[in-house]
Amino acid sequence: MNRKIIVAPSLLSADFSKLGADCDRMEKAGSGMFHFDVMDGMFVPNISFGIPVLKSLNKYTDVPMDVHLMIEEPHRYIKQFADAGADYITIHVEAESDVPGTLDLIKECGAVPSISVKPGTPAEAVFPYLDKVGMVLVMSVEPGFGGQSFMPVSLPKIKALREEADRRGLELDIEVDGGIDRETAKLVIEAGANVLVAGSALFGSDDPAGFISHVKSLA
Ligand code: DX5
Ligand code: ZN
Repeated sequence: MNRKIIVAPSLLSADFSKLGADCDRMEKAGSGMFHFDVMDGMFVPNISFGIPVLKSLNKYTDVPMDVHLMIEEPHRYIKQFADAGADYITIHVEAESDVPGTLDLIKECGAVPSISVKPGTPAEAVFPYLDKVGMVLVMSVEPGFGGQSFMPVSLPKIKALREEADRRGLELDIEVDGGIDRETAKLVIEAGANVLVAGSALFGSDDPAGFISHVKSLA
């Protein structure tokens, strides 16, 4: 198994007063993707940033943007996020009344469709959509805040998704988000994940390049 491992800094943990500089720092450290957490104060009990910030960053960096929509009925905003520069758009299966239609819309808008499950939602909830997505995001904390502890309940879900993708012959990226550090990175990669979001572990480190190369070496 030599699946490509990507480490995606969660920009929620950046210093917003110097977002461009923080992005430069993470790009130089070897990030293959930026993770952009959008929160509406409804689906999750927090509000973060949105379309205008994404637009500015898109002009500033060429690193692919992975937009994690923690918002109710995300179909209302797909076009705006795609136009603002989203390369991947992740919706939550729990938040959308028309999941297949929204995944199709993401593709029509030119982004990679991705679907996410919260810790309490079984992996099987997204099995009906695996043919429509390029990525599945398994939340390993309750969405809403950075800096929480990793929930091991995510591990069997990652494994079940990887097995199902392999069974169907799908080249699926499996992303994990929440509480990723050097130790939990090893566990999720062993379970079958290949895109690892890291917020506090990366931005809190004085050697982000060392963290990223360590995680990549675990494959
Ligand atoms: C939580 C967000 C995460 C979060 C990860 O709702 O989706 O992306 O910022 O942060 P850490 O790595 O600190 O758990
Ligand atoms: Zn996220």
